Amino acid sequence: MKHLKSQLTLPCGTILQNRIAKSAMSENLGTAKHQPTNTLVNAYRVWGKGEAGLLITGNIMIDSRAIGEARNVVVEDRSDFELLREWAATTKGTKTQLWTQINHPGRQALPMINKKIVAPSAVEIKIGGRSSATDKIPIALTEPEIYEIIDRFANTALILKEAGFDGVQIHGAHGYLVSQFLSPYTNIRTDQWGGSIENRARFVLEVYRKMRAVLGDDYPIGIKLNSADFQRGGFSESDSMEVIKMLSSEGIDLIEISGGSYESPAMMGDVKKSTQKREAYFMDFIEKARDITTIPLMLTGGFRTVEVMETALASNKLDVIGLARPFALYPYLAKDIFTKKETVFKAIKPSSGVQAIDNFGIELIWYEAQIKRIGQGKIPKFNLGAFSIFFKYAWNLMAKAFKNG
Ligand SMILES: Cc1cc2nc3c(=O)[nH]c(=O)nc-3n(C[C@H](O)[C@H](O)[C@H](O)COP(=O)(O)O)c2cc1C
Repeated sequence: MKHLKSQLTLPCGTILQNRIAKSAMSENLGTAKHQPTNTLVNAYRVWGKGEAGLLITGNIMIDSRAIGEARNVVVEDRSDFELLREWAATTKGTKTQLWTQINHPGRQALPMINKKIVAPSAVEIKIGGRSSATDKIPIALTEPEIYEIIDRFANTALILKEAGFDGVQIHGAHGYLVSQFLSPYTNIRTDQWGGSIENRARFVLEVYRKMRAVLGDDYPIGIKLNSADFQRGGFSESDSMEVIKMLSSEGIDLIEISGGSYESPAMMGDVKKSTQKREAYFMDFIEKARDITTIPLMLTGGFRTVEVMETALASNKLDVIGLARPFALYPYLAKDIFTKKETVFKAIKPSSGVQAIDNFGIELIWYEAQIKRIGQGKIPKFNLGAFSIFFKYAWNLMAKAFKNG
């Protein structure tokens, strides 16, 4: 029977030493010029001691003209190669796999820090507190621009492979560019990139194929995919099933299931009670996905107790347990499980006490601050004040916006 300590062999031959994975969390710890910093690298040194089977980095941007957050790392050439090597080396000598997540934000790029915002179609974004900062309608990509972005995914992935990272994950979820192409709500194109699910999936398939061609058959490539984006007229469960079938027949190594976007943040647990009835938010969906693919499946969102994680694995419906927020509060999470130090991993819901600030995404900012503490060699602080954290974040954003003119 499968359990948290069982190994997993991926289709490419890579072995995960156990079933616990840190899902991607944007660390927002790069320099103002989007290079990795010592604090960022050090956070992975700490996580690297935690015995997880897999650590996935926060999203790394593939284009310096399309940034999700002011301090994201960008990899589009080899100018920071030595720093990337240092980052990739943080888990060497352990059995933990360290994968990067690569991303293009598309219409979810913040106008304050990006001059031109591109997306599959010119569909305006409506995000709570962020909408004041995101009043721009994105510009629909031309076909040559689409091909350029596909090349960029492969280029970034190759640089990261050469720097020593063990694998790569395409960010195909949460309303970023790949998921914008997949969704009929954000993709209203009438050419070969829009319309039927085959056309909407063309972008992700081309990205995957190009990456596979340059990375080789034995390098792990995974994807984070939405079960649905929880928007009327958006990417549905049946669309998602089709995409899973397509990626499975292409030979992808690991499919991580999540859901939602920053317009409808189901991935953070902001879903109807019916969807949330089990500890893991997207468990019902993955059970159905198991019937249509033999590719390893990872489920992320909501896992908090060892008991539920073990039961989920034993059910044979999924292969890897993904956790994000708990890893920012319990950096040695897998080791804590194996040594029986913890059986429940709380995840705090921070609030600044001011609704407008909370709407801006206080949860992300608060957890990023915990990751910063880890990188600084401090222990995470469960009672960290959300109000002051927000002002530091806003300051960084303004500084970047000011610099961009
Ligand atoms: C601070 C923070 C940053 C995140 N950044 C990313 C990211 O870069 N890429 C991604 O796929 N998901 C990102 N997420 C979402 C998580 O990977 C995960 O899907 C979500 O938090 C639900 O899992 P959990 O309940 O275990 O936290 C982020 C979440 C947090 C809290």
